[in-house]
Amino acid sequence: MINLFSDTQTKPTPEMRAAMAAADVGDEQLAEDPTVNRLQDMTAQLLGKEAAIFLPSGAMCNLVGVKTHTQPGDMILADRRCHIMRAECGGAAIFSGVMLDPLDGERGIFTPEQVRAAIPPVKTVYHPHPTLLCIENTHNYGGGSVWPIEQLRDVCTTARERGLAIHMDGARLFNASAASGVTASEYASHVDSVWIDLSKGLGCPVGAVIAGTSDFIGRARRWKHAFGGAMRQAGIIAAAGVYALQHNINRLKDDHANARLLAEGLSQSPRVRLLYPADTNIVFFNVSGFTPAAFCERAAAQGVRFSAVGGGIRGVTHLDVSREESAAAVESVMKALSE
Ligand SMILES: Cc1ncc(COP(=O)(O)O)c(C=O)c1O
Repeated sequence: MINLFSDTQTKPTPEMRAAMAAADVGDEQLAEDPTVNRLQDMTAQLLGKEAAIFLPSGAMCNLVGVKTHTQPGDMILADRRCHIMRAECGGAAIFSGVMLDPLDGERGIFTPEQVRAAIPPVKTVYHPHPTLLCIENTHNYGGGSVWPIEQLRDVCTTARERGLAIHMDGARLFNASAASGVTASEYASHVDSVWIDLSKGLGCPVGAVIAGTSDFIGRARRWKHAFGGAMRQAGIIAAAGVYALQHNINRLKDDHANARLLAEGLSQSPRVRLLYPADTNIVFFNVSGFTPAAFCERAAAQGVRFSAVGGGIRGVTHLDVSREESAAAVESVMKALSE
């Protein structure tokens, strides 16, 4: 099976497994695990932030980020189709008691005017107070769209002028960098908290790291414990992260080239409609005559696994899909469509 379901499906390579097996470990809850500490330091440095903490998942990074920035009853602004809004079970509302005000971004990317319009000009006792802006870069349901750095800067400036803090869901931040040439630390310099996922394009089995000021991370650590995210000999899994930061960032551009190959190949069929250009490692499309779910079933029967999400069919390239397999996936889809 050529697995284009998601970049979350990668399996650790023998080299990554060897690094995990050899990891030095300690009690992570007590900040005594040397490998976790190293991963946190490496991430903070890559993102240009003072400190970072290791968490079991990206969803928990969003939970902890929102919780650390807000008080119950606050409003947070975010794109309507972002992961926090659409794919985290309402965790921000459940655990932080916040209201979510959706912005209608273009592929998840919104403007300073939209941010300004969502913030009441004066605080009143009626309207919930917006205190946090969330940005997703790249944007998953926007088809792996990349925030232009000038627009990101302007949106962040607007939010700050109105007193909002800014949190970035950087599940695929290194994909944004690989596509735009803007470093992860440049993106991160505009926001207060930012996290990266280790278990997506970077190819780790588990884990994510959130970064910010020492003060923010100190407060976030408390919520990590409260949410059950504090671990013990977590160096075993952090070692995969250290390995990935050293070996798997530079190769993300190969995934992007494979996504372009896939998109170009698929669009040769008159029945395929690409929903967005393949800017990074995500290809969204629809096929006439099929619901997304029905097409996924048909493609799976031909040996290619896609997912039916976000109103379309999604193919995601990653470490475990080669260029040859990307080309073979196109051929299999064409065969599926000709039957
Ligand atoms: C943009 C985005 N944010 C957050 C998450 C959650 O990450 P995790 O699966 O590590 O909890 C995902 C997962 O697909 C994602 O795509």
